[in-house]
Amino acid sequence: MWQLAAKLTSRLPAELAHNLTIQALRLGLAPVANQLLLPTNIAGMAFDNPVGLAAGFDKNAEAYMGAFRLGFGCVEVGTITPLPQMGNPRPRVFRLTADDAVINRYGFNSKGMRVAAAHLSSRSTRHGILGVNIGANKLSQDKAADYHKSAAHLSRFADYLTVNLSSPNTPGLRDLQHEEGLRACLQAAFDGRDDACGPKAGRPPIFVKLAPDLDAAELFRSMDIALDCGISGFILTNTTTSRPENLSSALKDEAGGAFWPASHLFGTAENSRSS
Ligand SMILES: Cc1cc2nc3c(=O)[nH]c(=O)nc-3n(C[C@H](O)[C@H](O)[C@H](O)COP(=O)(O)O)c2cc1C
Repeated sequence: MWQLAAKLTSRLPAELAHNLTIQALRLGLAPVANQLLLPTNIAGMAFDNPVGLAAGFDKNAEAYMGAFRLGFGCVEVGTITPLPQMGNPRPRVFRLTADDAVINRYGFNSKGMRVAAAHLSSRSTRHGILGVNIGANKLSQDKAADYHKSAAHLSRFADYLTVNLSSPNTPGLRDLQHEEGLRACLQAAFDGRDDACGPKAGRPPIFVKLAPDLDAAELFRSMDIALDCGISGFILTNTTTSRPENLSSALKDEAGGAFWPASHLFGTAENSRSS
């Protein structure tokens, strides 16, 4: 039955399929997986297993309980912005079926931190590790202040927080992965978290999510700065603005962040499937 549901949703426009899947999980209309146990410890957090659902699926923290029931050891909700915003005009997510790839330019469509907090406050069990991924509003004049606001508002619901500075779909955001911008955003997130939780044990560790389009020198410099600020780890990586030459789909030049399987590093998806 679930295979049929997957087949049907794959025929729908991508964003509609995404939204219907969120609603199905929210309503508990999803299979319950056998618990996969492979205990893993990261930054002081005990994961039942190391398979996580990345940010971008459950943007408004509506369906994370259903995602845990699917068997994920970790679910990262968001990206959540302080104020609600619509994101980019549709269509804004594209399946590159021939390439097993996806391009999205959602642009942080978010119902905002207050709606997310309401959903997170009804978390019924502490089962699974819940990450909360925070971002800045597109029109915000002070992006660092946005990280302070969201960290202060959402920290108490999170097992860990992710400061997302790597979406390619918010103009100027990725510039904040460097030097003073990076320090300012991370410091703001730490201050927001500590304002909410106090300087005590049990407050959520903070990670930073970086783009795959940094060159090695930029990446190491940004990591050094982030570690110096007290970051507990890195989420690597967000989607890329690069396009491998072997993509064949007509939609391959749509603007946005692309995600494709590792097989593209070695050959076409078709080659890797038949090998
Ligand atoms: C449709 C879509 C929407 C995404 N939205 C977000 C987002 O809101 N915030 C974010 O940090 N990452 C977002 N991502 C990036 C994913 O979280 C993830 O980092 C990326 O797809 C790479 O996945 P991988 O680590 O499995 O290779 C999105 C990805 C896709 C495909």
